[in-house]
Amino acid sequence: MSTDIPNEMKTLVVTSPGDGKGVSSATIEVQTVPTPTPRSGEVLVKVHAAPVNPSDYGAWFKSKESDYPLRIGKEGSGVVVATGGGLTTYRCPVGTHVGFVFQDTKQGSYSEFVTVNALTGVFPMPNNVPIEDCCSFFVNPYTAVAILDTAQGTAAAEGKQYKSIVHTAAASQLGQMIVKLAPSKNIEVINVVRREEQKELLEGLGAKHVVVTSGDEIKWKAELKSKISELNCACAFDAVSGKSTGDLFSLLPSKGSLFLYGGLAGDASNINPMDLIYRKKQLKGWLLSDWLTGNGSISMVGKLLAAGKVVNEGLKDGGWSSSQFQDTTLEKVQEDVIKLLEGSATSRKLRVRFVADAVVAAAAETSSVVADAVVAADVDAVVAADADASVDAVVAGDASADAVVAAD
Ligand SMILES: NC(=O)c1ccc[n+]([C@@H]2O[C@H](COP(=O)([O-])OP(=O)(O)OC[C@H]3O[C@@H](n4cnc5c(N)ncnc54)[C@H](OP(=O)(O)O)[C@@H]3O)[C@@H](O)[C@H]2O)c1
Repeated sequence: MSTDIPNEMKTLVVTSPGDGKGVSSATIEVQTVPTPTPRSGEVLVKVHAAPVNPSDYGAWFKSKESDYPLRIGKEGSGVVVATGGGLTTYRCPVGTHVGFVFQDTKQGSYSEFVTVNALTGVFPMPNNVPIEDCCSFFVNPYTAVAILDTAQGTAAAEGKQYKSIVHTAAASQLGQMIVKLAPSKNIEVINVVRREEQKELLEGLGAKHVVVTSGDEIKWKAELKSKISELNCACAFDAVSGKSTGDLFSLLPSKGSLFLYGGLAGDASNINPMDLIYRKKQLKGWLLSDWLTGNGSISMVGKLLAAGKVVNEGLKDGGWSSSQFQDTTLEKVQEDVIKLLEGSATSRKLRVRFVADAVVAAAAETSSVVADAVVAADVDAVVAADADASVDAVVAGDASADAVVAAD
């Protein structure tokens, strides 16, 4: 490897989950470890930024005892600084701006360097977006695409095609993405939020239907029921869980479907069994990796390529898949997550930064030519690579997709 690459690097490790009830009692350490060396088919990425998603900090204290010590962070972005050789690494040569997703928990994105499978873990990023702003390119944007597709596509296969959905925690980064993307899919979204200012935020992004749950319970439930009826809505996606799930379930019409995909308020409660037994409503868990892998490996490659194109187009500032970040460091991330959870998380996705702005600006100048060429050639490169090998490799990444989104 180049002499510019140090032998050792810093990484964040959870050594103990604490009492298992929250982030504050987990023990998290910045450790100095050997910089990984890319093997054939892998690239070494100098990490510029990595987001802290609810599924990330959920894993810090909810993982199995045997998972600790736990390397943390599941997605991020940076620049390829070395490759281990092999056919697939030609799609992301040294200098390429990439987003990456982890396939296991042997490494975490809260690290100065990571090695990633060049075919299944690395996604070339557009050169007109600062690379640190691309760090949330996967978990939330692909989920936004997948949720809207589930409403239209998967459900359609079950004989239902939904033209409207209810979405909770709708001012989340993901919720804001759904608000911006849904019109292009002709889906109406009834956004449910818990604060009045979140309603203003979403309306500013173009949301037509927003219900706030902080006021009188009878009133907001009547408002939500009326919107569900007005839009003939029979499908909901709930990230809140807790009491929200049962409340929402009871407001859906008979035979309606509720997809539970997050646990922001803890265990789901309050389900009226009669809604399941007599009104034939359906309550299902929903996970991005299930959507990706649901129809087999060929379909998954197609979904990744199609979603990737739409996502990359929206990553620029204000674009549909862009995020609003609050920067932190390896040393401060635990303290900043605790503060975030005590306050408001809306529009403040914590992002661990590794490379200062001045260095990023200088590097962008030299790497933009490489990035241009790679983005243009990427789809061709994936298709051209040995088809069997690529499908196998993507299938082998199934477990990774679970790891990316499972721990809520
Ligand atoms: N299943 C999957 O495959 C999958 C994939 C991606 C994301 N997700 C889930 O999607 C959700 C959103 O993720 P994100 O990264 O977009 O989140 P985020 O940007 O961190 O935002 C979280 C939002 O949820 C709100 N919130 C938090 N606790 C709440 C509660 N108890 N009741 C109502 N609202 C609450 C926050 O509002 P305040 O400002 O009021 O705190 C904030 O607007 C998370 O649950 C995440 O795990 C699931």
